[in-house]
Amino acid sequence: MDLKDDNLEKYILAHIDSEPDYLKKLVRDTNLHTLKPRMLSGHLQGRMLKMFCSMMSAKRILEIGTFTGYSALCMAESLPEDGELHTIEINDELEDFLLQLFDTNGYSSKIHLHIGDASQIIPTLDGLFDVVFMDGNKRHYMDYYQAVFPKLRLGGLIIADNTLWDGHVLEDSKDAQTIGIQKFNDLIMTDDRVERVIVPVRDGMTLIKKKNN
Ligand SMILES: C[S@@+](CC[C@H](N)C(=O)[O-])C[C@H]1O[C@@H](n2cnc3c(N)ncnc32)[C@H](O)[C@@H]1O
Repeated sequence: MDLKDDNLEKYILAHIDSEPDYLKKLVRDTNLHTLKPRMLSGHLQGRMLKMFCSMMSAKRILEIGTFTGYSALCMAESLPEDGELHTIEINDELEDFLLQLFDTNGYSSKIHLHIGDASQIIPTLDGLFDVVFMDGNKRHYMDYYQAVFPKLRLGGLIIADNTLWDGHVLEDSKDAQTIGIQKFNDLIMTDDRVERVIVPVRDGMTLIKKKNN
């Protein structure tokens, strides 16, 4: 959930790892050049993503929904020298911007950008992943989950973003995105192959740990 108290949010941001300058610039560029800059993870969530990947000692990370690359860069910061992050974005208008961004910041060899629909690209990816960050189309979270589950190593972590959907999960809604998130949350709750917890930060992040295949 969003922090309603600005002073508390300022306090938190002043007492966690700072946002690197290159990410501050990315926030400014995203605000200037995109229609929905709020989609970007931001300082607190970005540092959390980096921390989760680091705690998992992740060497292979998969992201669904790159947008302007903020979360991909945060997670890539945690990678060891031989680590890699694959990120999938359906909007091909972002491709040139993202390739230049990753190159300028020294991540062109670690971050592999796939342009296209995640549901089609995931089955083509080889090998197992340690961490998957799901942040694509909310209507398709169940499909992404089914597709990535076989690609996640035992003990691996799926981080699903926006799982409280601004509180709309409590509503009897006809909105396709709300219904997509509600169905996803219900599915995760009944899947005995995983452990799960919802972290009520920002728009809700569900941490899903794979216990068995
Ligand atoms: C919330 S934004 C991602 C924000 C980014 N992860 C961050 O934290 O900075 C969601 C992105 O998912 C992309 N997207 C939507 N459906 C997709 C799909 N089926 N496959 C890949 N990307 C998709 C959208 O174009 C959008 O850029």
